[in-house]
Amino acid sequence: MKNLTEKINEELFSTRGYPHRWSMTHPEKFTLDGMMALLKPSVSIEIGAAFGGSLQVIEKYSQKVYSVDIEQERIDGLKTKFPSVQFLCGYSGEVLPEIFKSEKGIGFVLIDGDHSYEGVQKDIALLMSYQPQQDLYVIMHDSFNPEVRKGIVDFSWEQSPYFEYLEVDFVQGLFHQEGKWNGYMWGGFALAKFSPERVLSPVRSAHHQGIYDSCISRSVHALPKKNRFQFWK
Ligand SMILES: C[S@@+](CC[C@H](N)C(=O)[O-])C[C@H]1O[C@@H](n2cnc3c(N)ncnc32)[C@H](O)[C@@H]1O
Repeated sequence: MKNLTEKINEELFSTRGYPHRWSMTHPEKFTLDGMMALLKPSVSIEIGAAFGGSLQVIEKYSQKVYSVDIEQERIDGLKTKFPSVQFLCGYSGEVLPEIFKSEKGIGFVLIDGDHSYEGVQKDIALLMSYQPQQDLYVIMHDSFNPEVRKGIVDFSWEQSPYFEYLEVDFVQGLFHQEGKWNGYMWGGFALAKFSPERVLSPVRSAHHQGIYDSCISRSVHALPKKNRFQFWK
């Protein structure tokens, strides 16, 4: 039986025209919807389409969307549902550089593909040679996961002269207390902004670092990887 939170969550989003399976928490869903409605980007890019969850919001508010995923089957399942989206099958690092070279009006990027330290860094690195023609906002999902978070924080964002702002805890993540992910930290949005002008003093912030620090010592992430499976119920 579904709990009340799940029911409300389902009703709020399916009645708001978002029927596709969506791997985000409800604060993340509200934030993405609100941000897209505000930004209405000319061009958006999504790394990690999965079942069209985030894509249904990005597509609603963007004039043009590129969506990339390594799973051909997932892309095939989405093509008819999103006829205006340009789907690309392959690793983001391989298929996106041409788009960053040719598209001048990119206003939004969602990074939600490879959640390893190296994977998230490779995706951020795609942005480094891009010269925005307008404000460019980047959301990175799962910034509360220690590996993803470290990849984001360790990255040398300042190598881009257009990098303006990074908030690692734009939306707070989850410390799972039950089920398959018991003891794991997932979710959260990090937000980065790039400016069309050169930025002299970029700012970095981690608004909820204290909550993160309190969770990590009690989480499976404090254990060697080989010992983490014991927490699965
Ligand atoms: C967590 S899911 C994305 C969830 C989706 N954004 C949503 O909101 O429901 C991650 C997806 O990224 C894809 N993926 C993983 N690594 C990738 C990479 N390097 N390039 C492109 N897609 C990748 C996976 O196949 C998977 O479908």
